[in-house]
Amino acid sequence: MNPLHASLVARIRAGGPISVEAFVEAALYDRDHGYYRTQGAIGAASDFITAPEVSQVFGEAVGAWIAATWRALAAPDPVQLVEFGPGRGTLLADALRTLSRLQPDLAAALRLHLIETSPLLAAMQRRALADIALAAPPVWHERLDGVPDGPMIALANEFFDALPIRQFVRVGDNWHERRVGLAADGQALVFVAGPLAELPAGLADAAEGAAEDEIVETCPAGEELAAALASRLAAAGGAALVIDYGHARAAPGDTLQAVRGHRFATVLERPGETDLSHHVDFQALAAAAQGAGPQAAGVTTHGPIPQGLFLGRLGAGERAEALAKAATDPAQAQAIVGAVRRLLHPGRMGLLFKAFAIAGPGLGPLPGFAPSARGQRRE
Ligand SMILES: C[S@@+](CC[C@H](N)C(=O)[O-])C[C@H]1O[C@@H](n2cnc3c(N)ncnc32)[C@H](O)[C@@H]1O
Repeated sequence: MNPLHASLVARIRAGGPISVEAFVEAALYDRDHGYYRTQGAIGAASDFITAPEVSQVFGEAVGAWIAATWRALAAPDPVQLVEFGPGRGTLLADALRTLSRLQPDLAAALRLHLIETSPLLAAMQRRALADIALAAPPVWHERLDGVPDGPMIALANEFFDALPIRQFVRVGDNWHERRVGLAADGQALVFVAGPLAELPAGLADAAEGAAEDEIVETCPAGEELAAALASRLAAAGGAALVIDYGHARAAPGDTLQAVRGHRFATVLERPGETDLSHHVDFQALAAAAQGAGPQAAGVTTHGPIPQGLFLGRLGAGERAEALAKAATDPAQAQAIVGAVRRLLHPGRMGLLFKAFAIAGPGLGPLPGFAPSARGQRRE
């Protein structure tokens, strides 16, 4: 039993079963033992790999999105470029390398803000950005609140899936919040149904047609963040791009998953040593952004659309071809094409992963979300 498991057992013995949300919160964010406090690695040698680590083409395509969005905003100077959960900093480094070469006016206007809770990953991000010329040094924050007001372009790749969720289980005609309690041995963690619970209003669609024992989920932290982004974008302009795995329409289902060493693991085993995530409910994010009240007036949402379609429209296929052509040998060329195929192909990351955006007032169709003249020929 690791120290976090032991402290959870003590907590449950003292106060009874805890919500799934409290469990995920502790497993990922506990100050001393949480996964995002202690595990520093993302990539081939760690627990999981993300799109920016698969191919530089991902960051370059996002760089193209940033540039086109900035121009659509009438090129504000300065503009905050905010990334939530930048991991190893690879996406930003790849995007900024391209931007500083091809779009020097944008590179000069960008003020970089990184939102990160892991000190280990923040150190990696610092190293990844060290050789990139920036108009002002990047600033790190633990939350969006710390980012100064002003026009903003925000990015979040595989960020929302890490935020804690609440789960509700159907028992007969009623709903109970799913909790984490102790097995008969008093040591192992097990899921239990808590007392009767009122289903949050936003879960009505997902709950419709749910069968006995089925689960519905909500991510309060994700919805709060979508609403906060909408308010900021309404006030100062800009757009936020969210890329993550998830579903376009809310539906019943238990999507909480654990990954350790690139393999699925058991959610409740070895808390703090295992990555936990869930499938993002984009319908709920859109509703939270659009329902953020009068302070979010004029905000629009775009997508979700499949990641493969989004990256393809931003030129990922052509960029892969150009890189492959410039490769030093056929094996390298094949590796480049294979990695980009992994990002784009519907059977790999191209369909499950989706792009979604929240845009401030006055922005028309966003790059990547509508077919371009060039894209129309290909799609
Ligand atoms: C799955 S990783 C994705 C990393 C990166 N975006 C990528 O695509 O490689 C999640 C990232 O979000 C950070 N993170 C997770 N939850 C966070 C939170 N609540 N606040 C700030 N950062 C968080 C993690 O430390 C990590 O950098």
